[in-house]
Amino acid sequence: MKIRVDLNLAVNDNGYGILIDSGIISGGYNKETAAVLSSAGLNLKGKILVVTSKTVEGLYGNAVSSFLKNYGADDFDVMVLPDGESTKSLKYLSDIHDRLVENRLERSDFIIALGGGVIGDIAGFAAATYLRGINFIQVPTTLLADVDSSVGGKTGIDHPEGKNLIGAFYQPKAVLIDVGLLKTLDKRELTNGFAEVIKYGAVLDAGFFAYLESGYAKVLSYDEGALTYIIERSCGIKAEVVREDEKEAGLRSVLNFGHSLGHAIETLYNYEIIKHGEAIAIGMVFAAALSKKIGLCSEETVKRIRNLIKNSGLPTDIPDFTPEQYINAMKLDKKVSEKQIKFVLVKDIGKYEFKKLDFDFILGFLNENRKLA
Ligand code: NAD
Ligand code: GLY
Repeated sequence: MKIRVDLNLAVNDNGYGILIDSGIISGGYNKETAAVLSSAGLNLKGKILVVTSKTVEGLYGNAVSSFLKNYGADDFDVMVLPDGESTKSLKYLSDIHDRLVENRLERSDFIIALGGGVIGDIAGFAAATYLRGINFIQVPTTLLADVDSSVGGKTGIDHPEGKNLIGAFYQPKAVLIDVGLLKTLDKRELTNGFAEVIKYGAVLDAGFFAYLESGYAKVLSYDEGALTYIIERSCGIKAEVVREDEKEAGLRSVLNFGHSLGHAIETLYNYEIIKHGEAIAIGMVFAAALSKKIGLCSEETVKRIRNLIKNSGLPTDIPDFTPEQYINAMKLDKKVSEKQIKFVLVKDIGKYEFKKLDFDFILGFLNENRKLA
């Protein structure tokens, strides 16, 4: 399956292809993959830096070397970073820059980001900032990266004061999603990525949400057909949103459903213990309950969102920080003023609404609703 993200960018840049299939990396030479690499402008005689994480290198390092050789690349280097969110830092960004300089990559050369969202975000940001921007290709290896972070061009690193505070919009030249790589992903990571899939259905596609309600168990038992379907649908939805609003001037904020509280939770946990998808799962239940509180949606809508999240094995309870800690953490969000925050709310399954809410109101609601399950 091929999806295109067509963007109204500068002349000569008409978007990029997302290829979704099983066996792209480890299945040997394939004409369709070659066509995507060629339309991405991959110069196989140029230099390539593969940036990956320790676990992924252990599992797929050899397969990726064979993959690159199969398609004719002969000058590539592999840089292995530690696993975990703390890799999305200035230190590792600077290490990637050092390696790019040492290897003398030029603007026409390529970075390949091979890994989960952490690797995609930091390697993409390194690509955006080295020589004012060199080419990069996303090869996501987690469900979260397949359905969200590898598509749409948000790249960046964290700051101790908040998540993703330093970054750039910088689009890849291609995204290669090999669904077969998910078979080694542990169940918690698979479920974590599933939270972002629920997000698309909850606020943008009621039919897809209904499919997830009946099909979540199949997806979470690693059924390749079900996984391929939800990845295709999620990328299709995301591509449409990004095509409309690449730089998040309006519509794209819908993809932040669940993220206002979710990011605050991640910040309060110092990006440890809880995973991104888990945090936004709690955030989605919270945003749905908030929508009901202001009369925007029915109890039935809240119940369906909460049940799908809970049935998938994702958390729904707000962790035990004080409401004031949450408000302070939310104030670091990029879209807040001193008194208000722009929330993505749900009107009905598949329908969203943006609303500016007073922090005082959210504080009161947090005090009333510590337990949402
Ligand atoms: P991650 O990148 O930390 O990967 C999770 C773990 O899985 C890591 O230990 C990794 O080594 C391992 N792993 C990866 N692929 C594997 C495989 N195929 N088999 C076995 N193990 C594998 O986590 P993530 O959930 O992929 O990404 C989270 C990050 O993505 C966060 O930093 C978040 O902010 C970011 N994100 C970015 C966007 C965006 O639009 N750029 C969107 C959503 C999330
Ligand atoms: N993950 C939200 C976005 O890409 O806009």
